Amino acid sequence: MRIAEPVVDEDDVRAVVEALQSGVLTGGRYTVEFEREFAKYIGVRHAVTVVNGTLALIAALYALGVREGDEVIVPCFSFIATANAVIALGARPVFADIELETYNIDPASVENLVSRRTKAIIAVHLYGHMADVERLKKIAEEEGITLIEDAAQAHGAEYKGVKAGAWGDAAAFSFYATKNMTMGEGGAVTTNRDDVAWKVKMLRDHGQEEKYLHVTFGVNLRITSMQAALGLAQLRKLDALNEARRRNAQLLNEGLRDTGLILPVEKPGYRHVYHQYVVRVDPEEVGLTRDELAERLRRLGVETAVHYPRAIPDQPLYRSLGYPPAEKICPNAATAARQVLSLPVHPKLERSDVEYVIKAVRRALGQEG
Ligand SMILES: Cc1ncc(COP(=O)(O)O)c(C=O)c1O
Repeated sequence: MRIAEPVVDEDDVRAVVEALQSGVLTGGRYTVEFEREFAKYIGVRHAVTVVNGTLALIAALYALGVREGDEVIVPCFSFIATANAVIALGARPVFADIELETYNIDPASVENLVSRRTKAIIAVHLYGHMADVERLKKIAEEEGITLIEDAAQAHGAEYKGVKAGAWGDAAAFSFYATKNMTMGEGGAVTTNRDDVAWKVKMLRDHGQEEKYLHVTFGVNLRITSMQAALGLAQLRKLDALNEARRRNAQLLNEGLRDTGLILPVEKPGYRHVYHQYVVRVDPEEVGLTRDELAERLRRLGVETAVHYPRAIPDQPLYRSLGYPPAEKICPNAATAARQVLSLPVHPKLERSDVEYVIKAVRRALGQEG
């Protein structure tokens, strides 16, 4: 049982081949149409595609004016790209702790970290459950700073009926191979701000307002027509794919309810899209460590993964930059890094596959029968 598998069907294949045969391999109608449809789906004025999610974050920060010497508050616990995007602009990531319930940035921790230098907060919607955007937005507004969503794992996630990607001044999406929808590689910035959309477009295409008229700084962050066509085909089935993830998560929740594992929650008002189904393994509760459970599951043919085995400040890069250990500055993130385990939840799993995962987990925990 694999931990992640992209869903690529005949419709996707046809879309890519059609784009390939269209004679316009980049910069054509496929990109325009994808951006229109994705913006409509998220519920924002603009979606601007770029080559991947990391560059979507960098472009969003850049467009919001983050520069050398600025501080950006980011969660201690995320994929490294969230923090590295800040470093790419010469700014300094300031690490906030997470809430253990959802693994997302804790607004109370953010409040304590705002300084004169703070320019922005990045809220990561980890595993497909949105961060507490309402409180974060309020903090950002009160402090006169910007809110950026890292929605790389949250296509279609919602809070109060408003989608991830529509809450902040800007949001970054990834369309990497294993995301809830994919282009193979790809990314997008969504925003309601015309100025931000314009700056991202300029950064993406050499600052050209017209051909060979370079009005501002830019590089090349463009995607191909084939990526855009694949994105369009994937977007059409995103809701169905997310529903399949939610169904699988529901089965896992029911099957693992009384095992002692700490199961993922969907807080009231939120729509979780289960990019990952993540349990927490507390050895005091279940009598074995996360790594022991993972090894037993591997032997039973169930692939698992750890997202992520180190809090970002504990990565060698951040240690070398002088950050203190996560245990000191974000103890919840340190606990999560020790205890989280992702189980298979992807849409290709049949009901019987999920039932097998449940049986295997119970067996690994010595609880079968
Ligand atoms: C939370 C988060 N942020 C950023 C990224 C970066 O996206 P990409 O791999 O498309 O550069 C990813 C995914 O890989 C991610 O999971």
